[in-house]
Amino acid sequence: KNISIIGVPMDLGQLRRGVDMGPSAIRYAGIVERLEDLNYNIEDLGDIVIGRVDRKGIQENNSLRNLKEVALASEKLAKEVDNTISRKRFPLVFGGDHSIAIGTLAGLSKHYNNLGVIWYDAHGDLNTSETSPSGNIHGMPLAVSLGIGDSRLTELYGNNPKIKPENIVIIGARSLDDGEKKLIKELGIKVYTMHEIDRLGMTKVMEESIEYLKDRTDGVHLSLDLDGLDPHDAPGVGTPVLGGISYRESHLAMEMLEESKFITSAEFVEVNPILDDKNKTASVAVALMGSLFGEKLI
Ligand code: ARG
Ligand code: MN
Ligand code: MN
Ligand code: MN
Repeated sequence: KNISIIGVPMDLGQLRRGVDMGPSAIRYAGIVERLEDLNYNIEDLGDIVIGRVDRKGIQENNSLRNLKEVALASEKLAKEVDNTISRKRFPLVFGGDHSIAIGTLAGLSKHYNNLGVIWYDAHGDLNTSETSPSGNIHGMPLAVSLGIGDSRLTELYGNNPKIKPENIVIIGARSLDDGEKKLIKELGIKVYTMHEIDRLGMTKVMEESIEYLKDRTDGVHLSLDLDGLDPHDAPGVGTPVLGGISYRESHLAMEMLEESKFITSAEFVEVNPILDDKNKTASVAVALMGSLFGEKLI
């Protein structure tokens, strides 16, 4: 199989600096060698260029921070992801904050009519400028991709909406804002909160998720926010929430996705080496990608 790495050094979707170094941290933790050892053909496309804003610019629009730069970068990323699939390669995207999923899903939407999405995250990222408590666009990409939110984001790269609510599974949720809860109910989005993970176990959660997405989708994207994991295991994230998915459970989840053979693209986001403990979080991301791409002990 052929994998193309796309780095997105984006930190404008939230307020904590340093997450723009996520792609470097993941490369430094050895992702290319790790995947080459599994006999993949790896191409590193380098990083998308992100516009810079000055300190004053950051204050500008408090309900949709840095909208212009986020939209511009999303457009570039969408094009890169679109081209990668056209060249029959697997897009593997490194963030950067989770706002980059707007661009990834926009690019993917050119190739799938029923794209499945596994949103592995402590958060729903289903806010709009009206419901967001922060104005940070990294809390909005799933809503945007459903066609809900500012048209400068939802209309981006054609195709609105990019995905359908019945093709989404959220795994690991434990911090949802009121507007997000309302949207989940209205749209009937499938969510496995930490409660279900504790109660059913990760094996059952993944079996059900795979079964649910298998027949209704023509491709499945994994969007993995490292804050889905417990902050003990992944401390280098901007919005940590206690009581998360463990390192072991996450490996199991990746192994089960590998066995299912249905993941067609993936992104690993919110790795912030400045907030991390000796690049631990990037190393966890790399280890999880090892499992996702078929690494076995024996
Ligand atoms: N729900 C909060 C907000 O809208 C936090 C979002 C965190 N998102 C993330 N991708 N880490 O601001
Ligand atoms: Mn999150
Ligand atoms: Mn997220
Ligand atoms: Mn723990």
